[in-house]
Amino acid sequence: MKLNDLIAQRSSVRHYLPNKIEAEKLAYVLEAAHLAPSAVNYQPWCFIIVQEEEGCKKIHSCYGRPWIQSAPMYIIACANHSESWKRAEDNKDHADIDVSIAVEHICLAATEQGLGTCWVCNFDLKACKEAFNLPEEIEPVVIIPIGYPDLAHDMNPKKRKPLEAIIKYERY
Ligand SMILES: Cc1cc2nc3c(=O)[nH]c(=O)nc-3n(C[C@H](O)[C@H](O)[C@H](O)COP(=O)(O)O)c2cc1C
Repeated sequence: MKLNDLIAQRSSVRHYLPNKIEAEKLAYVLEAAHLAPSAVNYQPWCFIIVQEEEGCKKIHSCYGRPWIQSAPMYIIACANHSESWKRAEDNKDHADIDVSIAVEHICLAATEQGLGTCWVCNFDLKACKEAFNLPEEIEPVVIIPIGYPDLAHDMNPKKRKPLEAIIKYERY
């Protein structure tokens, strides 16, 4: 599949089938995160795979929307702020950028494998840190539910600003 076709195919999935994800497919998706670029190649991240009942319940308690409970698996993409690159000029911490690139790699690789995902950032940060025993420097950035999409539910049509509204040539 052409890259832009894959990108167009990825969509936020909020209805999942209960089917488990095959180990080879999970390994493929994780390799996509593993190969992601990062500032100074510091790779300031870790990915917590959650698929057992106790962990899934913890995820549900961190994000109260009922739809998330249909996913058979979650990946918590975490930033390690003690390992991330900070720009000298303004001390900007690039951990979020690095983790975000890896997350979209995960989402695209999952799409290629016939799996659905959704970026979820609007979760209870404190509850998540406590539930998964995350040390101070480890920030859960995104929870990614992952599973086979329940195709009985329509995908959201892609809504994007017109290209000419976001592209500027040579100057702002
Ligand atoms: C950084 C980020 C945070 C997001 N957080 C949530 C979230 O907490 N809950 C949710 O249902 N969707 C969340 N989304 C999904 C967006 O709503 C979705 O990507 C956007 O509406 C575009 O739709 P599409 O993914 O189907 O193309 C998030 C997406 C991004 C990139």
